[in-house]
Amino acid sequence: MKVNNPFIITSKYVSKEYFCDREKESAELVGNIRNWRNTVLVSQRRMGKSGLIGHVFSTPEISKEYETFFIDIYDTTSLDDFVLLLGKEICERLQSRGEKLVEKFLMTVSSVVASFSADPISGMPSIDLKPSATSSAGKSLEQIFKFLESSSRPCVVAIDEFQQIADYRDGKKIIATLRKLVQNCQNTCFIFAGSNRRMMGQLFNTPSEPFFMSCTPLYLDAIAIDKYTDFVSGHFKNNGKKIEKKCIETVYTLFDGHTWYMQYVFNRIFEITDAGETANLQSIETAIINIFDIFEHVFQEMLLRVSEKQKALLIAVAKENKVKNITGSQFISTYNLKTASAIQGALRPLIENETITKEVDCYRITNRFFSLWIAKRY
Ligand SMILES: Nc1ncnc2c1ncn2[C@@H]1O[C@H](COP(=O)(O)OP(=O)(O)O)[C@@H](O)[C@H]1O
Ligand SMILES: [Mg+2]
Repeated sequence: MKVNNPFIITSKYVSKEYFCDREKESAELVGNIRNWRNTVLVSQRRMGKSGLIGHVFSTPEISKEYETFFIDIYDTTSLDDFVLLLGKEICERLQSRGEKLVEKFLMTVSSVVASFSADPISGMPSIDLKPSATSSAGKSLEQIFKFLESSSRPCVVAIDEFQQIADYRDGKKIIATLRKLVQNCQNTCFIFAGSNRRMMGQLFNTPSEPFFMSCTPLYLDAIAIDKYTDFVSGHFKNNGKKIEKKCIETVYTLFDGHTWYMQYVFNRIFEITDAGETANLQSIETAIINIFDIFEHVFQEMLLRVSEKQKALLIAVAKENKVKNITGSQFISTYNLKTASAIQGALRPLIENETITKEVDCYRITNRFFSLWIAKRY
């Protein structure tokens, strides 16, 4: 597929042409799948987990031999949602490989009923699943696993934002059930991905938890600067444009190599650079001003939703970019933040709703554009 702008900012994987590096991580993930190791894949949000999974699923080693399924359960709130989403993904993937497989799925998973329709806009066939009147989500889940296990090709199931299950009603019980089903699989391999490091750690690294030590961990860090620089300048060159190396390095440093934010900026810079022109530091400035304009209302509104104390803390953290000692006297006095306990009080809900991220050794505002915007405005 040829796209107009080579810097993709949706999380849907397009093709390897637009995918930078991740060679080592891809090889590891392929190795895990081919050697029947389940993976727990963790990174910050928007670093590239979904992209990596899409990339690995499209490699010949996997796509030629395995049936691959991917669900993002971020928006699900119950096991019912979960099984319908997984069921729908399986049906849709199988549909492209022939009616027979879908029929077999619906025979095996008798606790869901399907209705078929054509998407009104694209005309693509679409499948809607509903639980049958007498079924339970637990039963459907068992039947789905049974189906996967009976597939003639081995299956890989990737569950993105897996930590969400912990928030379901009866989350603990569901996780234990899932662990049992996963453990008994001989034909299906799993990738559990998640952005919430604290919750993923809780699920996979706590001895009392069902999934403890049951998966091979894979942590996704920033793409190396030299790899990303080659990627960006290559795409400019392929399109008859140029970009100064310094420009790429500046963006990389500004976002600590955080993938989506860099992609977003280069998507804009690519757009505003005409063929034959060279993008430079001024292009970054223009792109960022443009991005601030777009998000202005969103960011204003985000600040309206927090208390005065939280706002003061957000401004202080944004101005520092990263804060190592958030209750330290230096940080308190520089930003007039009163007391350490007041900071703790303001911080807790901001971490809870992921406005602030706690990294291994520091705190920062999760959304890097928001952070830059606050630092500039206040
Ligand atoms: N290796 C890569 N090369 C280029 N763009 C990437 C790469 N990995 C991710 N992206 C882009 O970065 C953004 C975030 O990636 P995504 O996989 O959705 O992150 P996550 O699942 O960790 O939240 C997406 O727009 C995606 O297209
Ligand atoms: Mg994702």
